[in-house]
Amino acid sequence: MAETSVLSGKRILLVIAGGIAAYKCLELIRRLKERGASVRAVLTKAGAEFVTPLSVQALTEDTVYQDLWSLTDESEMGHIQLSRDADLLVVAPATANLLARMAAGMADDLAATVLLATDKPVLVAPAMNVRMWEHPATQANMALLEKRGVRRVGPNKGEMACGEYGPGRMAEPMEILEAIAGYFTERDAPKPLKGKRALVTSGPTYEPIDPVRYIANRSSGKQGHAIAEALARLGAEVTLVTGPTHLPDPPGCAVRPIETAREMLAACEAALPVDIAVCAAAVADWRVAGESDRKLKKDGGGPPALSLAENPDILATLSNAGAKRPSLVVGFAAETGSVVEYATAKRARKGCDWIVANDVSLGTTTFGGADNTVHLIRNGGVENWPTMGKDAVAARLADTIAQHFQNKTP
Ligand code: CTP
Repeated sequence: MAETSVLSGKRILLVIAGGIAAYKCLELIRRLKERGASVRAVLTKAGAEFVTPLSVQALTEDTVYQDLWSLTDESEMGHIQLSRDADLLVVAPATANLLARMAAGMADDLAATVLLATDKPVLVAPAMNVRMWEHPATQANMALLEKRGVRRVGPNKGEMACGEYGPGRMAEPMEILEAIAGYFTERDAPKPLKGKRALVTSGPTYEPIDPVRYIANRSSGKQGHAIAEALARLGAEVTLVTGPTHLPDPPGCAVRPIETAREMLAACEAALPVDIAVCAAAVADWRVAGESDRKLKKDGGGPPALSLAENPDILATLSNAGAKRPSLVVGFAAETGSVVEYATAKRARKGCDWIVANDVSLGTTTFGGADNTVHLIRNGGVENWPTMGKDAVAARLADTIAQHFQNKTP
């Protein structure tokens, strides 16, 4: 269990919407209060059908805010102040209806208004019938909210109150508590890269053959996205330039989606100046010369011959950008044998400061997989890192970068 003393003195505004899981909030309030947090609650009209204002008031030891137009509530505390007088807003249960209203930016009751007016982070604990959760409308609303920075805990899979089985059960009170504690731990963690600007490239590039076909590669973007997120967590201001992936945007990063290597270079150059550049993208070395602006047809003359032209090398360009050169440039090397030897030569050839080398031979699952085994090659020599998850590789690389800026290690 995470260290929960981080909750001491924290002010939580708990929005309780109308779902059967609302009863679990009472337990959540107790556990939060036990750990020294203060809890103020907003109860929706539907929420009050499931838990009584009296129970919520007794446990929070505070007024329960229910009505946008209540003169007493407004005279005690206006909805704007209510929304800002907290360290974190927690919506539990977050119903399909409230998520939809949040996504649409509605302000048709006190809960929605507070969520729209706030300048504080928001954590939602969705709870609903499995079909409602899986409905494309709810999924799109949730994805949009997460893109805007809303955090989520759950829903869990299980037997539902309505008798169906699947994802939709609200996370348990202790899981919500952990997520709340996790937010504060992260927020209060040291930010050694604060004030530094970072650029990360990630994913594959798509090089068009004609309007419907392209040349690409198997890069999933997992490693690059994880690095962007890890640098942002340490306080860096991160721009992530990424080819097409199936990954959500990493929190706290400015994301610039691109398709071709040339677009990637332009987006990288537009992001300069930066202190740190990490090129983790699997950039296509070649593009099709003279791509067709019409779909290539079978005209009986046999397959077309594709001729290729060399793409710009983004890592080498950034490494040799003169006055605009980032002070630390990190490249990746995907090799299929003599990994350290080839990667060391690549470092010299491209002019970057560090190379993270990994083995992508057949049989390894580096491309698309969750793990990575890497060697960090710097001036000072080679560090062989154990096989780790890509998130752990990213966290260690970000820490190493932070150390570099703190004591100017190689
Ligand atoms: N890279 C880049 N632009 C390119 C090609 C590669 O920025 N046009 C970057 C990658 O993001 C990575 C590093 O260069 O950081 C190494 O890429 P890799 O594909 O391993 O090396 P290549 O340059 O393709 O060399 P080789 O094909 O000889 O292995």
